[in-house]
Formats: sequence, structure tokens, C-alpha cells
Amino acid sequence: MNVLLINGSPHREGCTYTALCEVAKPLNEAGIETQIFHIGAAPVGGCVGCGGCAKAGRCVFGGPPADVLPLADRADAFVFGAPVHYATAAASMLGFLHRLAWSGGQYLRHKPAAIVTSARRAGTTTALEAMEKVPQFFEMPLISSTYWPMVHGSAAEQVPLDEEGLQIMRNLGRNMAWMLKCIEAGKAAGIEPPAAERGAWTNFIR
Ligand SMILES: Cc1cc2nc3c(=O)[nH]c(=O)nc-3n(C[C@H](O)[C@H](O)[C@H](O)COP(=O)(O)O)c2cc1C
Repeated sequence: MNVLLINGSPHREGCTYTALCEVAKPLNEAGIETQIFHIGAAPVGGCVGCGGCAKAGRCVFGGPPADVLPLADRADAFVFGAPVHYATAAASMLGFLHRLAWSGGQYLRHKPAAIVTSARRAGTTTALEAMEKVPQFFEMPLISSTYWPMVHGSAAEQVPLDEEGLQIMRNLGRNMAWMLKCIEAGKAAGIEPPAAERGAWTNFIR
């Protein structure tokens, strides 16, 4: 089993990365592989709804939302991490998530997901809510912890001072390992995800 952790910060080894590494520790201890994918330091734009991905099988604008697809295909679960920018999740991470969702939802569906954020001070719960929208759309069991999954710091070396934050990250990793093992045991016992009912598509226009 393996978990793909997405670092949605422009900083490759900043606060978000430090938090993700802490989530990875108990996963690794439970024998679960982890890999961190960095969306990069360049701005990542959002989905323009062109529909090109339906034919191409990937976002036609390329970049991180396309590059991640082979890893997303292999992943059994995801951790989406982003810093707080302007009191919500960093815009590049939201752009990445929206384009990944549109072009690669099949790689997400029914896989457990967790959300992590890092801030100097304010905007953490709004950032978490913004990122939750994609897992909620793709029937991904959302893994929780012993508090809302956030750490505090301006720079990576400050994050370990937030002892509670790191504790929350470790508990998150443990809960994800538990969920993955439950799903594996369920599969072995013949329990598969339910088929969704489809067909209704009702706009609020009459
Ligand atoms: C453009 C920008 C906007 C930011 N806005 C906020 C904010 O609204 N609230 C906050 O607490 N920190 C804010 N910060 C600070 C970062 O959230 C904080 O330093 C974070 O831990 C950095 O994580 P990283 O090292 O993974 O990028 C902002 C940083 C940047 C670069």
C-alpha cells in the first residue's frame, strides 16, 4: 500500500513539507509506503473547464496536475497539504486540486484522503474547508485526527516547536494507516465500494 502526500506549498521543504513528513512517520511504521509530490514553486493556475482532459486523459495545460497522474493511479490514499495564503489554502494548491479533480477524478474515487495546512497565524480552518471540497466530491473517506490538522510556523524550523501540531499529524497518520488496513481487510472479505447512483443532473434553473 502507498500513500501519496501532496505538498501544495511553493517551498519544497517548508512548513507544509515538515507536517507531511510527520504524517508519513506512523504510516511507514505501519509498513505503508509514502511519497511526497511537490507541486513546485511556479504558480499553478485553476481549471478553465475546457473539457480537453476528457479526450486527452490528462489536463491539456500540463504541469503538476498532469505530472501527478501516474502517481495518483498507484496511490491507495492521499494527503493534501497546503500553506495558508490570504486566510485560505494557497491558490496554486486549489488550482492543482481543481485540475486534478476534473482530469483525474477516477484516480481519487473511494480512496481515503486527509487534509493538512500550515500557517503563521490565521486562516487554517478556512484553508482546510477549501481543500476538503475535492475529497467530498469523489467519495473519498476523509481521515481526521485529534484536532483540525494544522501546524503553525513561518519557517520549517519553527514547526517542531508546535508540539501539539506534530502530535496531530502523527495521529492523522495512525488513523490513515488504520483505515487503509480496514479497507484491505474488507476487500479480502469481499467488501467493495458501492456503485453510485447516477443519472439525475438537476440545475437550479426551471
Ligand atoms: C502569499 C502568502 C500569504 C500568506 N497568508 C497568510 C495568512 O493569511 N495567514 C497566516 O497565518 N499566514 C500566512 N502566510 C504565512 C504562511 O502560511 C506560513 O508561513 C506557512 O507556514 C508557510 O508554509 P510553507 O513553508 O509550507 O510554505 C502567508 C504566506 C504567503 C507567502
